[in-house]
Amino acid sequence: MAFPILSAKEAAAQIPHNANIGLSGFTASGSPKVITEAIAAKAVKEHEEGRPYKVNIFTGASTNNHADGALARANAIGRRTPYQNTPDLRKRINSHDAHYFDLHLSELAQKFRYGTYGDLDFAIIEVAKVFDNGEVVLGTGVGNVPTYAKYAKRIFLELNNTLPEGLYGLHDIYMPLDPPYRREIPIYKPSDRIGEPTVKIDPAKIAGIVHSDAYDGIKGFTELDDVTLQIGANVCNFLLAEVKAGRIPASFLPIQSGVGNVANAVLFGLGNAKELPPFEMYTEVVQDAVIELMKMGRCKFGSTCSLTLSDKTEAEVLANIDFFRDKIVLRPAEISNSPEIIRRLGVIAMNTALEADIFGNINSTHVVGTKMMNGIGGSGDFTRNGYLSIFSCPSITKGGLISNIVPMVSHVDHTEHSVDIIITDQGVADLRGKDPVQRAEAIIDNCAHPMYRELLRDYLRMGKGGQTPHSLNAALAFHTSFLETGDMRNTDWAKFGA
Ligand code: COA
Repeated sequence: MAFPILSAKEAAAQIPHNANIGLSGFTASGSPKVITEAIAAKAVKEHEEGRPYKVNIFTGASTNNHADGALARANAIGRRTPYQNTPDLRKRINSHDAHYFDLHLSELAQKFRYGTYGDLDFAIIEVAKVFDNGEVVLGTGVGNVPTYAKYAKRIFLELNNTLPEGLYGLHDIYMPLDPPYRREIPIYKPSDRIGEPTVKIDPAKIAGIVHSDAYDGIKGFTELDDVTLQIGANVCNFLLAEVKAGRIPASFLPIQSGVGNVANAVLFGLGNAKELPPFEMYTEVVQDAVIELMKMGRCKFGSTCSLTLSDKTEAEVLANIDFFRDKIVLRPAEISNSPEIIRRLGVIAMNTALEADIFGNINSTHVVGTKMMNGIGGSGDFTRNGYLSIFSCPSITKGGLISNIVPMVSHVDHTEHSVDIIITDQGVADLRGKDPVQRAEAIIDNCAHPMYRELLRDYLRMGKGGQTPHSLNAALAFHTSFLETGDMRNTDWAKFGA
């Protein structure tokens, strides 16, 4: 079947105000680029002519500057879920121009299948290859494509000419039955394949193909500094001690690693920790550091939802795809982040916090409790279900104006019940088997920066009793001091009745 070839502008012209659109990809990888930019241009024109025009965007995770970035700059996003990370969209979310709801990534596909968010009017899917029968080979990120392709009324394909056909075979496309008919998802080790290499799309729904040669545009990470290197080393030393103590099997357990600079540093540390055995990953993003670990033989296999690689590393991987073919599988988000599989495999979950409190609760999403940073992403899927859940962050930020260890987090994403270990550049707090006060002592002594330890100990001493001795009138004093004076060290407990 010959599908219509369209320009991006012609595709965008068919998308009306308030359409629900599912985008392919997971992070910038595999996300559409040219049609979304054309939708943004259409929005600008509509707004100039006095008409309302916004679309509701459902994705696998974050997207890229061509999608979230362009659409946010054009103020063209109505509803948005489940995750984002572009500065322009962040501003729209925090100013209430875009109605973002933050969601565990594993949950969105099934919610869509049940109709929680209404019909899906369109899907825009980046592909490496289209067959005449509507089958497609996806790009470097899968996200929720199987569900969006099945449920969207009409589908535009972005055929990206920079993606090699050699991507065929890297994907493992599988959609579970929904409750009450769901059976076990039969993955027993990270490298198990249970699905198909392609997504089968009803050809009658394909509204057109738009050619593209745009790159994902992912930047490399910030250079590792003394702090991030120390965090990475602390994580590795902790894991090694766990193996020696027999709490992690000598053959090791699959690793999940979160997003961002700290996560990248932790992976770098794993590469250098030669005492740890080569390991497998069951994770949602493979970043540059993992590719290096694969080349070094340190990472044997990566099950992931996306290859979130800088343009330079992606070009290297795509040019040497045969080397990576038996080391990588790309899965839909509801499989890469499946609580069932994460629990079964005994994944070691390693994620990053904006701040942790002395009792072990984690804020991953809201700066000073109010401003959305990125979102919870898959951190909850992994943290709640992993065999071991680790959070890391620097002990201080902005040269010490901010302590990342606070009396009480200003927003809660992960509760004390799910968090086993907190690691900063200062050291490791093992929270397992400890009551709240014991946890607080471990976190203050081992993770807080020395410049904040006395303030935190004072807070604990001020406690008004109970198992978790908070002083509710002073619990957010670090944050209010920062907002009022720009420095958490100015916290004066006397002002809070101490
Ligand atoms: N208060 C205010 N700002 C803070 C802060 C705090 N407690 N902690 C960090 N920041 C700021 C940093 O100063 C930096 O700001 P800048 O960009 O102006 O320099 C920014 O937040 C990012 O900090 P950084 O230390 O570079 O963190 P990162 O790149 O490792 O990202 C998260 C950390 C928490 C933002 C990121 O991991 C995230 O979005 N996590 C949630 C989703 C997730 O975990 N997904 C993975 C699941 S697989």
